[in-house]
Amino acid sequence: MDAERAARKDDHVRLAREQRDEPRGRTDFDDLEFVHHALAGVDAERVELSVRLGEWHWPTPFYANGMTGGTEWTTRINRELAIAARETGMPMACGSVSVALDDAEAAGGFAVIREENPDGFVMANIGVGRDADDAVRAVELLRADALQLHLNAVQETAMPEGSRDFSGWERSVERIIAASPVPVIVKEVGFGLSRRTLRRLAELGAQFADVSGAGGTDFLRIENARHDSASRSAGGDFAMLSGFGQSALACLLDAPADGPRLLASGGVRNPFDVVKALAAGAGAVGVAGSFLQPLLAGGAEALVPLIERWIAQTTAILALLGAETPAALGSTDLLVRGRLAEYCRLRGID
Ligand code: FNR
Repeated sequence: MDAERAARKDDHVRLAREQRDEPRGRTDFDDLEFVHHALAGVDAERVELSVRLGEWHWPTPFYANGMTGGTEWTTRINRELAIAARETGMPMACGSVSVALDDAEAAGGFAVIREENPDGFVMANIGVGRDADDAVRAVELLRADALQLHLNAVQETAMPEGSRDFSGWERSVERIIAASPVPVIVKEVGFGLSRRTLRRLAELGAQFADVSGAGGTDFLRIENARHDSASRSAGGDFAMLSGFGQSALACLLDAPADGPRLLASGGVRNPFDVVKALAAGAGAVGVAGSFLQPLLAGGAEALVPLIERWIAQTTAILALLGAETPAALGSTDLLVRGRLAEYCRLRGID
């Protein structure tokens, strides 16, 4: 792999990790509340957390979202993540495999996932704009059950080496969906998918979309931190876009009824956020940054107990809310406050 690409992969992990150490402000997840009904609870023993998404049956309603792979360090991360996924039954995605399609040596950084997790649900990941053949190769490389296709225009804009031409993206999405041997999940990388985008994705053939909204890992800041002073003075600094995009909950509440099946991610901090996203209409919930930190600190040995705790706590919260399944959360009473309520008002959502 060329040195610049390898450095970028490692930088993304290092800088995403550093963001976790910063004090965290209020997010849209804090603006969604449940009305508490003291007699509504059910027996936690009867709660069934598994979810069905089309043909898929996932043991947990949350999954590890696409992060990384290809370099020596990120291969180790993928190995630990794959072990944790195997031990818990949690579905997982890898980061963009583009690097492995261009460089056979980097392919080992992804093959490790199937070595450790031969039977689990694994999603390959590729960026929009690649050839349809590349999408097929990405799926084959991982014997993947699904393909994540990421749309990252905001990130590209903030990357010194990023693309400036997004005009072919709709055609690319359509081609990749048509060619992929497994269902495609079109996703953002932390800036959200709007109502208009979700409608368009459905027209382009997308069955699934992960809204991956703002408020968690912030790729504008990650890319800005990667700039050296030369690229900054050459106009490469896009810190002014800070706050761009919509949160996962804003996207879910704004989603069209005739769009793709929804997954949600972006800024999920704990099991209560998982439950809120499920209640707002997500079929399952993706987690990247919140799993990266324990993964880097203690590998699968740290991540497995964390996932087990998330399963137990999600179950307990569903029992409290009177929901025997994630789908039953649809009949809870939700209150929308603050910034999220303002978003709903401006978008005409009741
Ligand atoms: C990512 N993400 C990402 N997404 C993608 O589709 N392909 C990729 O290669 C990557 N790479 C990547 C690296 C690292 C280190 C992180 C933390 C994240 C984005 C990820 O899947 C997710 O959409 C966002 O991170 C928002 O979720 P969180 O982190 O707020 O839970």
